[in-house]
Amino acid sequence: MATSFTAPVLITGGAKRIGLALAHSFLAQNVPVIVSWRTYYPSLEILSQQGAICLQADFSTTENVYDFAKRVKALAPKLRAVIHNASTWRAEQHDEPLEQTLAEMLQIHVYTPYLLNQLLESCLYGQGVGGSDIIHLTDYVVEKGSEKHIAYAASKAALDNMTRSFAKKLAPDVKVNAIAPALIMFHPDDTTRYRQKALKKSLIETVPGEEEVVRLVHYLLSSHYMTGKTLGLDGGRPLR
Ligand SMILES: NC(=O)c1ccc[n+]([C@@H]2O[C@H](COP(=O)([O-])OP(=O)(O)OC[C@H]3O[C@@H](n4cnc5c(N)ncnc54)[C@H](OP(=O)(O)O)[C@@H]3O)[C@@H](O)[C@H]2O)c1
Repeated sequence: MATSFTAPVLITGGAKRIGLALAHSFLAQNVPVIVSWRTYYPSLEILSQQGAICLQADFSTTENVYDFAKRVKALAPKLRAVIHNASTWRAEQHDEPLEQTLAEMLQIHVYTPYLLNQLLESCLYGQGVGGSDIIHLTDYVVEKGSEKHIAYAASKAALDNMTRSFAKKLAPDVKVNAIAPALIMFHPDDTTRYRQKALKKSLIETVPGEEEVVRLVHYLLSSHYMTGKTLGLDGGRPLR
């Protein structure tokens, strides 16, 4: 579906993988885009050339989150959508204090979206009923838990829960939904053994790639009625 918005879509962690694909998908439809990035990648040059506003932001402190919200508001009095994509898939490690792992997971998956949703509220209002969106990128493990990524799963579960709270708080102007993906794409250093094992975990034994998330995001933005929902994008993995 063709999308035509004048207010920008804000994508956190938009310099690579799913966030980058989302940014390109909006730019291709002439929708203005603001992306946040932490680490520099050459993709940022291309995004800038295509008209995206690329803002450096490390959300590892609350102060940085406040500062980022201030910069966004100065650039864009209105936002068509905020897509909380930035994430770190951190396992508990024996060489890292457990409380540090938990704090980092809570910082990026809970504090950051919790604060940004409230700090940017005024940018999302006033575009008509269901005229703007917040999308939380969560994870299939919210449902299932994860013995190797306990803090990660717990923090994504909190984000999932905030979907319902913010849907209630921001209605009727803002729709708030979550996408809970299972495996969408591999990392370049994933071993063949890992890849084969991972593929077998879903009913649809494939790795769909970032376009699958892009399509669902565009669907959510085009909907006039969907809010407070978590949409599993998991190839039927819970049924396996
Ligand atoms: N890919 C999958 O198969 C899959 C499966 C389940 C859920 N998801 C969810 O879908 C979303 C996108 O996935 P992805 O694999 O494309 O993500 P990704 O490759 O891990 O990229 C996320 C981006 O977030 C940024 N980020 C992390 N911590 C940050 C911080 N403290 N401050 C600022 N930026 C930070 C990263 O910056 P750096 O580049 O500096 O690290 C990175 O560019 C995530 O929310 C993820 O949890 C993905």
